[in-house]
Amino acid sequence: MAAEAAPFVKVGGLGDVAGALPPALRRLSETEEVSLDVRLAIPLHRVVRTHAETIRPVASSRVFRSGKELTAQIFETRLEKMPVYFIDGAPIRSAGAVYSSNENADGEKYAFFSLAALEMFRELDWTPDILHANDWHTALAVYAVLLKRWETRKTKPRTVLTIHNLPFMGPDMLGKIQSYGLTLAQTDLPSWAQTRPLPLGLWAADALTTVSPSYAEAIQSESDESAGLGAFLRERREDIHGILNGIDVDSFNPAADSALAATFGAETLSQRKQNKRALQAQLELPAEDAPLFGIVSRLESQKGIDVAFTALRRLKNVPWQAVILGTGDRALEAAARRLQNRYPNQVRVVLRYDSALARQIYGGADFFLMPSRYEPCGLSQMIAMRYACLPIAHATGGLKDTILDGETGFLFSPDTAAALMKAIRRALKVYADEAEMVSMQKRAMAQDFSWDRSARQYLALYRSLLAEIPASTQAPSSLGDV
Ligand code: GLC
Repeated sequence: MAAEAAPFVKVGGLGDVAGALPPALRRLSETEEVSLDVRLAIPLHRVVRTHAETIRPVASSRVFRSGKELTAQIFETRLEKMPVYFIDGAPIRSAGAVYSSNENADGEKYAFFSLAALEMFRELDWTPDILHANDWHTALAVYAVLLKRWETRKTKPRTVLTIHNLPFMGPDMLGKIQSYGLTLAQTDLPSWAQTRPLPLGLWAADALTTVSPSYAEAIQSESDESAGLGAFLRERREDIHGILNGIDVDSFNPAADSALAATFGAETLSQRKQNKRALQAQLELPAEDAPLFGIVSRLESQKGIDVAFTALRRLKNVPWQAVILGTGDRALEAAARRLQNRYPNQVRVVLRYDSALARQIYGGADFFLMPSRYEPCGLSQMIAMRYACLPIAHATGGLKDTILDGETGFLFSPDTAAALMKAIRRALKVYADEAEMVSMQKRAMAQDFSWDRSARQYLALYRSLLAEIPASTQAPSSLGDV
């Protein structure tokens, strides 16, 4: 279960993962000797309501809040034959946006969703063996599994909670937790964390995962990356698993991407030049051979966009061009505009969400800048590599785990403009040597970032959790993932 899942609703990387992992798991059952009954649940957000014409009501259940009954309506559709449930109810309707700026409304909405998903099992007469939740939005479901009484040990799901971004822990929910009838457990969490959904889920889950192995280490460190939970997470180290995300390699396929002026593969890399020219023409940049840097990102401090801008401003005495696509923080949007004003013949800034232009940048730019201060996984560096756009990235989290320095991209550390400059200089040297550039591009394109690999690791984890249940009570062959 998750707050968002593509193709129904996508705000960030979580949506990509929640939309791709469940079908990838389900596909495994076609090849592995296991029957996986994977299902997905997300809230019936307003955007889902307008997009999905095929959803049909299947059940309704009740959630009690301050002694009053709230109705949860359950709708269903299919994604590659997999059942997808949408949960509707007053708190979801009144919150409006997927994530609103109103913490209180968001807290209410996701508390309701989390508990309604558990009630749904009874109505559907189907309880998963594994309940897999993601981030703070659904962490209370994991907490509630621990507190709730289940008819038998067999009907109690084992729980997995995936951390996509640790600092986002959800609001203080003391009042809400109690109004939804959950007791506040005695935990070994720091006191400020004891009433927030993500920490409660981290405390309650049978297994925790992060979206890359390096991020699993980072959150257990004494650095800021542990967001104050380092000591607590170190106590749980045995239960923390870093599993790298994948990307949708069918959708992100430069050999068949209709958004590109020229499709290409590793053997037809020379065609790629046409994409650079098309991108320059479309954005009215001079059709030069200058190295072209791309940024496709939410413009947020986490992404180190300011570091990239500083480095570009310092890049003197060499030709270069840059294309920046994304939206976000007002101050960073303004900084991007200033960069374009200062370099009107070199920089183009497009402040919107535009998936076709994103693909044209991956398929046409020479280098992809990703100076994220921290990055739990990061998906765009993987897409960039698949499109032969070499990433230049801060050596952190998933960036460190997916980019081979000097082979498939360039890593730098610490996260300063000076270190990024050095990496850019190394990249420009490679750019000047066509044979070397092409061989790095080919190596980047040859990496396996498919979901299949990740799905196998999740399956192994699910299996190990089920193996912990005494054999006499273990559920038979089906694994559920809501
Ligand atoms: C969050 C993280 C990002 C990760 C994504 C999907 O957005 O910031 O690094 O790739 O979740 O797991």
